[in-house]
Amino acid sequence: MKVTERRVARALRPGGPEVIEVSFEQLPPLEVGEVLVRVEAVGLNHAETLIRSGSYAVRLPFPFLLGGEGAGTVLAGGPEVTIPPGTRVCWAAVLGSCATFLVVPSSMVVAIPEDVSIEQAACAAVAGLTAGGLARVWPLQRGSTAVVWGAAGAVGRMLVALLADRGVHVIGVASGNRVDALRAVGAAYVIDRSTEDVPDAVRADTKGRGADAVFDPIGAATFQASLQMLAPRGCLITYGELSGPAAAFDLNQLFPSSVFVTKYNGTRWVEGIHEFADFISQALTLASKRPAVISEIAGRFSLDEVVEAYRALESGPRGKVLVIPGHITSE
Ligand SMILES: NC(=O)c1ccc[n+]([C@@H]2O[C@H](COP(=O)([O-])OP(=O)(O)OC[C@H]3O[C@@H](n4cnc5c(N)ncnc54)[C@H](OP(=O)(O)O)[C@@H]3O)[C@@H](O)[C@H]2O)c1
Repeated sequence: MKVTERRVARALRPGGPEVIEVSFEQLPPLEVGEVLVRVEAVGLNHAETLIRSGSYAVRLPFPFLLGGEGAGTVLAGGPEVTIPPGTRVCWAAVLGSCATFLVVPSSMVVAIPEDVSIEQAACAAVAGLTAGGLARVWPLQRGSTAVVWGAAGAVGRMLVALLADRGVHVIGVASGNRVDALRAVGAAYVIDRSTEDVPDAVRADTKGRGADAVFDPIGAATFQASLQMLAPRGCLITYGELSGPAAAFDLNQLFPSSVFVTKYNGTRWVEGIHEFADFISQALTLASKRPAVISEIAGRFSLDEVVEAYRALESGPRGKVLVIPGHITSE
C-alpha cells in the first residue's frame, strides 16, 4: 500500500482544546535521509497547551501542527536510509506527531528495544530528553542532595533515576501511593505532598541544611517553597508551570543563602540531533531495566477524540495521556 496522505491534528487559533481540528494533508515524497512512519502512539505534553494558549514564552504561528513525541513503525525509507522497514521507533520534538503517519529525518528516530512497548516508548521520549538535559544543569555528584517535585510524573521519574544512578541523594515529591513508584526508580527519600509539609520534610531529611538543587516543574504554587528548601549556594531549576508561571520575586531573597535560580531551556542544554538520540536511547535502556521509570498511562484516545485527549491532559492527570491514531472508540 502506498501512503500518500495522512490525518493530522492542528490548533487553528489560540484557545482551549476546542480550537483543535483533525484534517487530511498530502504527505511529501521521501527526501534523502527521511523515513515514513506509521504513528501508533502519541504522547501529549503540557508545553503544547501552553503554546496553544498563545501567551507562552514559546510562540508558534497558527495554525500549528500538534503532537511532539510518539512511537510507531517505519514503513519506508528515502535515499541513504539504513533503517529497515518494520523497525519500531520513537522520537521527540517533531511537531505534527499527532497524526496517522509522519515523515521525519531518520536521525530523529530511535529504535525501540524489544522489551519496551510502543506505548512505553511514546511515554519515554520527551521525558528522557528533558531529564537528560536537566540532569546536566547543576554539578550534582555522589553525596549531593536534590529535590524533585512532580517526581512521579513522566519527566520526574526519569530525572530521579538518572540522578540516583549518579549517587545523588534524591528526595522525590509525589502524592498518595505514587511515592511507591519513586522508591522503585531510586529515590532515597520520598515525600507525600498530600499529607506532609514538603519544606519541613526536606529540612528533616537534610538535617536542616537543605538541598543542593531543587527541580521544580510546578511554578506559581511551589516557587517560594522551593527557594526555602535550598542549601547555601544551591540552585533552583524551574522547568514548567503546571500551576501557572511563578510570580516576579525580590532578588534580595537570594541573599541569605546566596542561592541561584534558573529557568530551564532545553535548546541551551541539549545540542544537536545526536544528543537527542543519545538521551532517548538512554531512557529506553533505563525503561527496559527498570519499567517503573515510565509513568502510568492516564488515558488513551483515538485521533477523533483528540479534543478530549487534550482536555484530559489539562485536567491534572496522574499519568501520561496518549493518542492512539488507529484506536477505535468502543461505544
Ligand atoms: N522545559 C522543557 O524542556 C520541558 C520538557 C518536558 C516537560 N516540561 C515540563 O515538565 C513538567 C512535567 O511534565 P510531565 O510530562 O512530567 O508531567 P506529568 O507527567 O503530568 O507530571 C506532573 C506531576 O506533577 C505533580 N503536580 C501537578 N500539580 C502539582 C502542584 N500544584 N503541586 C505539586 N505537584 C504537582 C503531579 O504529581 P503528584 O500528584 O504525584 O505530585 C503530576 O503528576 C511540565 O510542567 C512540563 O511542561 C518541560
